[in-house]
Amino acid sequence: MTMVTTPQMHYEYYKNIIERYLRKHFTVQKPRSLYQPSKYVMSGGGKRLRPVLVLLANEAVGGNAIDALPAAVAIEVLHNFTLVHDDIMDHAPSRRGRMTVHVKWDESIAILTGDVLLALAYRHLLGTKSPRIHEIVQSFTNGVITICEGQALDKEFETRSRVYVNEYITMIEKKTGKLFSVSMEIGAIIGSGKPDIVTILREYGTCIGRAFQLQDDLLDIVGDEKEFGKAIGSDLQEGKRTFLLLEAMRRAKGKQKEALKRVFERKVQRREVEKYRKIYEETGAISATHQRLQSDFEKARSLLMQLPDSHARQTLLWLTEKLIHRTY
Ligand code: IPE
Ligand code: IPE
Ligand code: MG
Ligand code: MG
Ligand code: MG
Repeated sequence: MTMVTTPQMHYEYYKNIIERYLRKHFTVQKPRSLYQPSKYVMSGGGKRLRPVLVLLANEAVGGNAIDALPAAVAIEVLHNFTLVHDDIMDHAPSRRGRMTVHVKWDESIAILTGDVLLALAYRHLLGTKSPRIHEIVQSFTNGVITICEGQALDKEFETRSRVYVNEYITMIEKKTGKLFSVSMEIGAIIGSGKPDIVTILREYGTCIGRAFQLQDDLLDIVGDEKEFGKAIGSDLQEGKRTFLLLEAMRRAKGKQKEALKRVFERKVQRREVEKYRKIYEETGAISATHQRLQSDFEKARSLLMQLPDSHARQTLLWLTEKLIHRTY
């Protein structure tokens, strides 16, 4: 990475490589009803955060980015598979500022698009040239299973009368944190990273992944719909047991508590988001969320400081800082 001067350029450089690779591999073949929505999903933008993390983890241990490219793409395709199915499960109308697949086409098409993306993810992953391919596929597969477990808990909690904060944390570690830790781990393994360094990078992934989901829950309330690209307040309408809701419930009294109970009963309307934002603000749930994710980012940063200094570490530090302030 000698041509690259700033962390931002470093990130963009890797992101562009991913975009180019995806453009080349996602073209419309027959049957069109399968490949058109697949291309639609894969070309819809997105931050490409996870595949860039694969490449940065690989570089951080001294690997060659080209070797990690198929796996990085596999991670992004897997991520997009989870989004397509998640949007069906969450009845989401929009993502990345566009209609979701099940809305633009229909549910059957969205299910099948997800299915083929999962298989395509494996096809890309298996293109990895590494003596440790077995370990890599194993990590990836465990990731898929863990995400499914997390998604199952997420849905289960929607109808549970009581969810504890530690259960919520386990759920987000599974549905979101795991893919970040697998991205870091796979990148580091492909770069032939030593076990202790692989562990540090994997733990870094867990920390930022957990914080990332906390922020996602927060942005569902305080975000700008246009910028976020997803419908605001959807978690309230779907009765999601978010950290915000659990914290607010713990602190609320009287009228506020009554209003929060309506989330559990799935009675919240779209136009009421502002009212709930106020309740989250007044009960201190928003600042509690900020504190929690701040401490995860702190931990993430201190993990990076345990690594030998490198260009990749600098970019990871910069990225961590960027994530703290993200609005989309
Ligand atoms: C969305 O992930 C799903 C969550 C885990 C919250 P991203 O926010 O990374 O989505 P894109 O890929 O950038 O659209
Ligand atoms: C999604 O969590 C995590 C996945 C594994 C897809 P959310 O349901 O909160 O993600 P968004 O808000 O729809 O992107
Ligand atoms: Mg969901
Ligand atoms: Mg969702
Ligand atoms: Mg969300």
